[in-house]
Amino acid sequence: MEIKEVKEGLYYYGGDYYTKNYVPGKKVYGEKLLTIDGVEYRRWDAFRSKLAGALKKGLKDFPFSKKAEILYLGASTGTTVSHLSDICEDGVIYAVEHAPQMMEKLMKLAERRDNIVPILADARMPTEYEDIGEVGVLYQDVAQPDQVRILLLNERKFLKDGGSAMLCLKTHSIDVTKEKEETLKGAKEELKTRLSIEEVIDLDPYDKEHYFIAMRK
Ligand SMILES: C[S@@+](CC[C@H](N)C(=O)[O-])C[C@H]1O[C@@H](n2cnc3c(N)ncnc32)[C@H](O)[C@@H]1O
Repeated sequence: MEIKEVKEGLYYYGGDYYTKNYVPGKKVYGEKLLTIDGVEYRRWDAFRSKLAGALKKGLKDFPFSKKAEILYLGASTGTTVSHLSDICEDGVIYAVEHAPQMMEKLMKLAERRDNIVPILADARMPTEYEDIGEVGVLYQDVAQPDQVRILLLNERKFLKDGGSAMLCLKTHSIDVTKEKEETLKGAKEELKTRLSIEEVIDLDPYDKEHYFIAMRK
């Protein structure tokens, strides 16, 4: 079986997505490593990363490339960020996280990956990291009741015209009493005031609580 580069820096092999390991020999979250023709790849676990889940469910828009500049809100310990770091080897990922325990692990990850810039901040306060300037991609996974407002706040301040925004929408964080379809509808209305919605993906079975929404400015 041959490993295939399906998008810049994104590989497909045996039914799974892979990225080239930026730090050969090192795993980030216990993922499988695979070496083919002397090149080491990391399996991108669709049950651990919503972006990999979205790819498995047919996501078409993939704005990540070698030189991409990304603002990532809700980086946690860096599971998804690490794969973006593999892909965007000459780019930069501004990884915002507000929990100090997560940040500690993220800082360790960034020690070996110089395209990750960890930022300890609240994504509701974009002025705290306004020095980063504009980016081509905004990615958000924060599971907060005001997650749509947070995305739009950051989009206004940082996203270039024509740039991509990706939102992992946790409907239950917005309203536990509503059906998820109803919450999605409300979120889409709000997002449409600023962005064009290109794709909406229900992440089930990889994640039963999130929709993945891909947008353009
Ligand atoms: C579901 S986890 C993110 C997982 C990560 N995106 C991944 O795929 O590897 C959500 C993260 O968002 C962080 N978070 C929640 N609210 C935030 C806020 N207002 N500002 C920054 N980070 C926030 C949480 O601390 C948590 O680490």
